[in-house]
Amino acid sequence: MPKNVLLIYYTQSGQLEEIANNLISSFESAGITVESVRVRPEKDFPFPWTTPVFFEAMPESVHGVPVPLEPLRFQSRSYDLVIFAYQPWFLSPSIPSNSVLLDPAFRAVIKDTPVVTLIGARNMWLNAQETVKNELKSAGASLVGNVALVDRVSNLVSVVTIFHWMLSGRKDRYLNIFPKPGVSDEDILAAKEYGQIVAKAISGNSYSDLQKELVKAGAVEVKYNLMFVENTGKKIFRVWAKIINSRKNRSRWLVIFKYYLLFALFIVSPLVLLINNIFFRPFRGKQNQKKINYYLGLNQ
Ligand SMILES: Cc1cc2nc3c(=O)[nH]c(=O)nc-3n(C[C@H](O)[C@H](O)[C@H](O)COP(=O)(O)O)c2cc1C
Repeated sequence: MPKNVLLIYYTQSGQLEEIANNLISSFESAGITVESVRVRPEKDFPFPWTTPVFFEAMPESVHGVPVPLEPLRFQSRSYDLVIFAYQPWFLSPSIPSNSVLLDPAFRAVIKDTPVVTLIGARNMWLNAQETVKNELKSAGASLVGNVALVDRVSNLVSVVTIFHWMLSGRKDRYLNIFPKPGVSDEDILAAKEYGQIVAKAISGNSYSDLQKELVKAGAVEVKYNLMFVENTGKKIFRVWAKIINSRKNRSRWLVIFKYYLLFALFIVSPLVLLINNIFFRPFRGKQNQKKINYYLGLNQ
């Protein structure tokens, strides 16, 4: 019997679709059938974004509030493996992806099924993956692999370039000075290689070493500084999301949040990182490595 895989994803620019298509490109020749489902919210988010609408998505992303989706239709009741491809928004699964995770039809399909997560992010996906892990676990799925592709340029440069991309809709070099935003073409292509590793595991029906092999191939990396910023950021986002939702003048508070975020990213985080790297990081080597290993793995 040929193996049967479900790939489900949401994408705005098409980046995640390109990554996912590369990942599954070797499946057919390995005798694996893939059913691809592109998720569409009933009322989709705009792309390109406008600045107010972009920040408007923050509280609901952080609080995990779903939106109605066009009905998810699957050809089978069960699959040998499900690939759940998603992108983080505000350190949480994007609202459409989170809506999939909460969808009863999807939850029924992933029950008792191995799942591989595939992430196409700027560079901060650790907290979103924690939420995804919890949702998968509560639906009875077992996470067997994670591939996370990111923009490898420095954090602050990628803040500039992603805003250019998100607000113009063009994945090109801002002012011809900045690097191209998002996951690089080279890394998008490398998804083919990670797909071969996944295909081998599906064919052999053996997932125990899959994540180890994916990590070895470079399918997922965890950088200390980004981990540090992200872990602090998530707590702060939760507080902001609460404040914004409890105020009458939501749009004004979203503008304040926007300026806060830029200040925190460009001024506060480099300073805090510097202090941490001098005074704390050198004494927490083991603890930090343990944390990195945790995020590289699949521990639920
Ligand atoms: C509203 C919004 C918030 C985002 N927040 C994050 C984030 O917290 N971490 C991150 O790594 N990328 C973030 N990104 C980038 C996305 O994860 C993703 O890489 C990008 O939107 C391209 O995905 P696409 O395939 O849907 O076009 C954000 C994008 C949007 C639109």
